[in-house]
Amino acid sequence: MDGEKTVKIGIIGAGFVGSAIGKLALRHGHEAMLSNSRGPHTLFSLSRGFGLRVGTVEEAVAFGEAVVVGVPLGALAALPAAALAGKVVIDANNYYPERDGQIAELDDGTLTTGELLARHLPGARVVKAFNAIRMAELETDGRPAGSPERRALPVAGDDAGAKAVAVRLLEDFGFDAVDAGPLAECRRFENGTPVYCRPLGRADLARGLAAAAR
Ligand SMILES: NC(=O)c1ccc[n+]([C@@H]2O[C@H](COP(=O)([O-])OP(=O)(O)OC[C@H]3O[C@@H](n4cnc5c(N)ncnc54)[C@H](OP(=O)(O)O)[C@@H]3O)[C@@H](O)[C@H]2O)c1
Repeated sequence: MDGEKTVKIGIIGAGFVGSAIGKLALRHGHEAMLSNSRGPHTLFSLSRGFGLRVGTVEEAVAFGEAVVVGVPLGALAALPAAALAGKVVIDANNYYPERDGQIAELDDGTLTTGELLARHLPGARVVKAFNAIRMAELETDGRPAGSPERRALPVAGDDAGAKAVAVRLLEDFGFDAVDAGPLAECRRFENGTPVYCRPLGRADLARGLAAAAR
């Protein structure tokens, strides 16, 4: 393993995000359990093909010391808020109105996507991470620390401990992490911002985050 301690990661959503993060977690010595809305019997290819643990959403939440949420925004209301209270929750979601429908508070900037998730999950320790890269690239673009071509990815959150878990995973997966500040500041790297899904090194990402309009 790259770091000192294995992280047990529960994952809600077993599509591009869930399967990529699950596979990377295993590759780097962590443990992961994937879940979706249809039940673990629909995730046979991930368990058989990649050796990933699968379970119900409730089982994945109970399994994870950190829980990754990678679902369309329309699914946020279905998340088990009581079970997630107190947990580190890594929010990889993005807002695509053509998929998610118009969400007024996101459209008018009252809320960010991270704050929207936090509103659904009172008491959860929400950190925004892993949203600003295509999953195919998350799986292939990781490089050892110090490599000149190592990419950097942003994180934002109000809970220092939760942020540290997200940073740890990003670094283990082969990326530098740049702290964009509190959860509200994830607006600097959401869909539509200049740094969103752009391959940038640490200095260029930090500049892009600082320059992003509020
Ligand atoms: N694709 C990327 O490269 C990428 C990169 C960064 C961020 N994101 C963002 O991450 C989120 C997920 O994207 P994706 O590409 O992984 O989507 P996806 O491939 O469509 O997968 C979505 C997953 O969410 C599950 N799901 C839906 N409703 C659920 C519920 N109520 N409870 C539990 N699981 C539920 C689906 O399972 P069922 O089919 O069983 O409902 C499916 O496994 C989106 O917000 C996306 O914008 C995507």
